[in-house]
Amino acid sequence: MYAWLNTLPKAELHLHLEGSLEPELLFALAERNKVALPWPDVESLRKAYAFHNLQEFLDLYYRGADVLRTEQDFYDLTWAYLQKCKEQNVVHTEPFFDPQTHTDRGIPFETVLSGIGQALEDGRRQLGISSGLILSFLRHLSEEEAHKTLDQALPFRHAFIAVGLDSSEKGHPPRKFRQVFDRARAEGFATVAHAGEEGPPEYIWEALDLLKVKRIDHGVRAAEDPRLLERLIDEQIPLTVCPLSNVKLRVFKDMAEHNILRLLEMGVKVTVNSDDPAYFGGYVTENFAALQESLGMTCEQAERLAQNSLDARLV
Ligand code: HPA
Ligand code: ZN
Repeated sequence: MYAWLNTLPKAELHLHLEGSLEPELLFALAERNKVALPWPDVESLRKAYAFHNLQEFLDLYYRGADVLRTEQDFYDLTWAYLQKCKEQNVVHTEPFFDPQTHTDRGIPFETVLSGIGQALEDGRRQLGISSGLILSFLRHLSEEEAHKTLDQALPFRHAFIAVGLDSSEKGHPPRKFRQVFDRARAEGFATVAHAGEEGPPEYIWEALDLLKVKRIDHGVRAAEDPRLLERLIDEQIPLTVCPLSNVKLRVFKDMAEHNILRLLEMGVKVTVNSDDPAYFGGYVTENFAALQESLGMTCEQAERLAQNSLDARLV
């Protein structure tokens, strides 16, 4: 079954490039850039990957991203992810990156973008993987900060397909970013947002009604609100679900409790994604395989999930 899932053509619509930083590359970049790490070796870093919630994970994720300093580093990170896509027959990807994580540490916006952009271009030409880049605003910061990030992106408008919203969800509702999303849409960006991972269904309503998103990232807590489910089904709004992430961050107690196949059978346009594969135990195929092992996903369901991901592309 794994081999069959692996060869199924798929799109990935929820992937944080910084979350695809494998421990081996993290250590190699730390050495290249002379960054001191709090872990003596790769094994002890892997042992540190035991999170109980989103915030615990994010603390490590931002710590890990600190080894990314040069254009070459961002190229290598993105290229390594695209190699994985090739191995797993991910034919299209729409990754996120968090510019402010890097610009706040003094790395120019252009350095980050050109490393990522060059790798995506090489991925198109050399690997045949199509892609579109999504700029994410950090929701634990102010809307003012997001406006500044958008200002930096505007000279490179055509490098992006959309803006998104990530990081710590609880206490940072989508409504906080209404104006910056209005501005981004006026500049021609599509919009997406993380909502309904740890946050309540109300955040999904806000993402739809105030931020006018084309997809909801995660969205699994929509299951708590029948009216919302009805809307997601009626309007066929895609959810970019990340099963291994949801179990690692305890959104669900274990994979057997995950609701993705129930949502699929109700007619919600759910897709399977890896979120932060270097931290959560696998790439897209591993996420599909986990659904097969724990929920008895059939081949027909896997084909529908893969087709949903191809249909839910923004470009
Ligand atoms: N949720 C929110 N923000 C994130 C995540 C996530 O899973 N990964 C990286 N930033
Ligand atoms: Zn995410």
